[in-house]
Amino acid sequence: MADGLCFFSKDSLIIKHPKKNPLVLRMAVLIFVMVCGVYICSVCLRQYSGRSSERLLKVQVVDRPCEAPTVESSEKRYVHFPKPKTFSRSECACNPVRYFAILSTQRSGSGWFETLLNSHVNISSNGEIFSVKVRRSNVSTIVETLDKIYNLDWFTSASKNECTAAIGLKWMLNQGLMQHHEEIVEYFNTKGVSAVFLFRRNLLRRMISILANSYDQNAKLLNGTHKSHVHSTHEAEILARYKPTLNATLLIPNLRQVDEMVMKSLEYFKSTRHIILYYEDIIKNETKLMDVQDFLKVPRRELNSRQVKIHRGSLSSQVENWGDVEKTLKGTRYESYLQEDYKM
Ligand SMILES: *[C@@H]1O[C@H](CO)[C@@H](O)[C@H](O)[C@H]1NC(C)=O
Ligand SMILES: *[C@@H]1O[C@H](CO)[C@@H](O)[C@H](O)[C@H]1NC(C)=O
Ligand SMILES: *[C@@H]1O[C@H](CO)[C@@H](O)[C@H](O)[C@H]1NC(C)=O
Ligand SMILES: *[C@@H]1O[C@H](CO)[C@@H](O)[C@H](O)[C@H]1NC(C)=O
Ligand SMILES: *[C@@H]1O[C@H](CO)[C@@H](O)[C@H](O)[C@H]1NC(C)=O
Repeated sequence: MADGLCFFSKDSLIIKHPKKNPLVLRMAVLIFVMVCGVYICSVCLRQYSGRSSERLLKVQVVDRPCEAPTVESSEKRYVHFPKPKTFSRSECACNPVRYFAILSTQRSGSGWFETLLNSHVNISSNGEIFSVKVRRSNVSTIVETLDKIYNLDWFTSASKNECTAAIGLKWMLNQGLMQHHEEIVEYFNTKGVSAVFLFRRNLLRRMISILANSYDQNAKLLNGTHKSHVHSTHEAEILARYKPTLNATLLIPNLRQVDEMVMKSLEYFKSTRHIILYYEDIIKNETKLMDVQDFLKVPRRELNSRQVKIHRGSLSSQVENWGDVEKTLKGTRYESYLQEDYKM
């Protein structure tokens, strides 16, 4: 209809005698041009917005970028405003989100540590996502999985809500992390993922925990069920009753192997933004948990876990052949593991 109007106006222009009334004519031309212009614009806009919702989303992103006002420019790449595909962040859409990964080894307290983090209303740590082999088949599956987690589209029991301010996972060094370290470090650095290393100072204690845990996988001491983590002192006592026998020949090679893997991982990931934590320090010193919260830039909270420590007593009481162990480690670089490091 408006097209018709434009043509009609042109026709009437031709009919008129331009020389007779130049001012009126110019005004008329101006008005027609404006009417036609506005019409064309409105048609274009309608077509553009109607094309696809995806495009519409992009327009919105451009229109209203979220700003983190208190962030220094060096910190900017660690601050994200994910737009999950599966839900709306609604009132927290412009709350900044930090990405993290807990890098650890089995039986180093990472399960307990993760329950502590997840007791924070703004932290969501999604467990050992890469324990499932296909997810770590190759770099593409790893990146795909990480993208989904960090976009808040991964659902586990630890998934929080639209107000998550730190999102991550627990990742064991032997779950593709060492194998694909170059690409993963690059991903961490380009996407702004912070690494939280969690290790045990005393690798001998870790070895005992591994042996006891793998024994229980068959023995199933708790009424026929196997548990890697427990929630009562009664259950902890039952599990701690089993005393493994350590193979003295393999003791030092095994300790060395883990020690070297930990050192290597720190070397590989040294260019990432990271913090190094030790299980023993967290047990002894509650302010370590405040350090973690500061590192993740979430508001400080009292963190708690229902998990109960399984091996509480002195090390010598937890091993069947303590004499052999002492003899093997005396005078080696691992001698300090024999000493009492904490009491509970
Ligand atoms: C933490 O979560 C609470 C409750 O969901 C929310 O009100 C608050 O804005 C969040 N804080 C941050 C820093 O995102
Ligand atoms: C990566 O692994 C997945 C799952 O095993 C497979 O489907 C895909 O083809 C692999 N991609 C590459 C690039 O090797
Ligand atoms: C095993 O089952 C009995 C009876 O149901 C219960 O009293 C006991 O507490 C259970 N023990 C553990 C370690 O779960
Ligand atoms: C310790 O491990 C070595 C190598 O696997 C094996 O040959 C040896 O029999 C083991 N010793 C004991 C006491 O189990
Ligand atoms: C506890 O940790 C804090 C922060 O990491 C440290 O400053 C403090 O010295 C530690 N306290 C003890 C008793 O080790």
